Amino acid sequence: MSVLIENPGAPLELTGGSRFVRACLRRPVDRPPVWFLRQAGRYMAEYREVRKHHTLVEICKRPELAAEVTITAAEKLDVDAAIIFADLLLPLEPMGLDFEFVAGEGPLVHHPLRTLEQIEKLRTDRTSQLEYVAAAIGKVAGHFGESKGVIGFCGSPFTLASYMIEGGSSRNYVFTKQMMYSEPYAWQKLLDKLVSVLVPYCKQQVDAGADVIQIFDSWVGSLSVEDYRDYVLPVTKRLVRAVQELGVPVIYFGVETASLLPSMRETGADVIGLDWRTPLAEGWQALGDSCAVQGNLDPITLFAPEPILEMRVRQVLEQADGRPGHIFNLGHGIVPGTPVENVQTVVKMVKALSPRFTRKDLQVQTGNGPEVTLG
Ligand code: CP3
Repeated sequence: MSVLIENPGAPLELTGGSRFVRACLRRPVDRPPVWFLRQAGRYMAEYREVRKHHTLVEICKRPELAAEVTITAAEKLDVDAAIIFADLLLPLEPMGLDFEFVAGEGPLVHHPLRTLEQIEKLRTDRTSQLEYVAAAIGKVAGHFGESKGVIGFCGSPFTLASYMIEGGSSRNYVFTKQMMYSEPYAWQKLLDKLVSVLVPYCKQQVDAGADVIQIFDSWVGSLSVEDYRDYVLPVTKRLVRAVQELGVPVIYFGVETASLLPSMRETGADVIGLDWRTPLAEGWQALGDSCAVQGNLDPITLFAPEPILEMRVRQVLEQADGRPGHIFNLGHGIVPGTPVENVQTVVKMVKALSPRFTRKDLQVQTGNGPEVTLG
């Protein structure tokens, strides 16, 4: 991770990639890095054009297409980091579960898991089939060098298990929670199998050039604090630690997590992604000051007129108050129909406004050289 080596005595000149990785590690930066959840997606004409000719899974499985979609979005938005174009559900296939994306309905898993026998049959020895994601990361990392951070990702054990058990998106997670409560052996077996696939999957991504791994626990907010702690926290902690041991920082993200934040912090993730329902300062306080935070503009603010948008961007920056370890992002993904210009405007606003919020009192020690003041 050469981006982390500081040049003694020289002023800190940060590339997008080093700015992003430094912020993940709560090191001082010249301004907060910015990128967006779902920055490559249907709101963008270039993506819709590629989608006319290929299915979502085809794009994911063809490294040249996945890399192109990833690179186009990150360049068009001029952000500091690119998240690889892939999907949460891809690891289900080598584990032996078929799924498809049904237009307008989202993912559909054909034979959802309901029994221990089904879980015992899941394969954990075919993760090499997912190498196409790493191949795409290799292309993106080669293209950007250190000019942008490259983010690999995977789903969390809970969120993936919920898709595997429910068979798709869910409102109440009845089957998932039923298995969790009634069949603790089967539940644990499933989570263990997921971790044994996800760790080598993340390793492929890191070996290919991912600077950071984001773990999406998108639906963890459906759990009470007690259930999270009893059924999900230990295995998530294990995954976070194992990914960190690959030598990269981990971003751990969920939605509707206000009450879960202190427990999510216990996973040891370097960065916690906040949704927009909790003011950023409050969320950061709940986490304590030993981790970085990512967020947390409401993605629907991107439909607002510019003065409102600017006010909300300022408020996120004010809440972060120039503390090291803030990564500007949304509280969840960009939705279809979002005006691309508004997303670009937010990037410009973050770049223009953040010097006002960068704390002049932060001194960076650069080895044996003089102190450099950022700001
Ligand atoms: O730039 C990016 O972030 C795009 C890469 C990306 C996709 N999926 C592509 C995709 C990422 C990071 C994901 C992760 C993902 N997939 C999550 C976690 C993120 C989150 O939103 O919390 C989840 C829950 C999934 C599962 C999934 N994939 C759902 C629920 C859907 C349907 C949603 C919809 O709006 O239709 C998908 C499909 C999907 N994955 C799309 C994209 C761009 C849109 C559908 C398409 O192009 O056909």
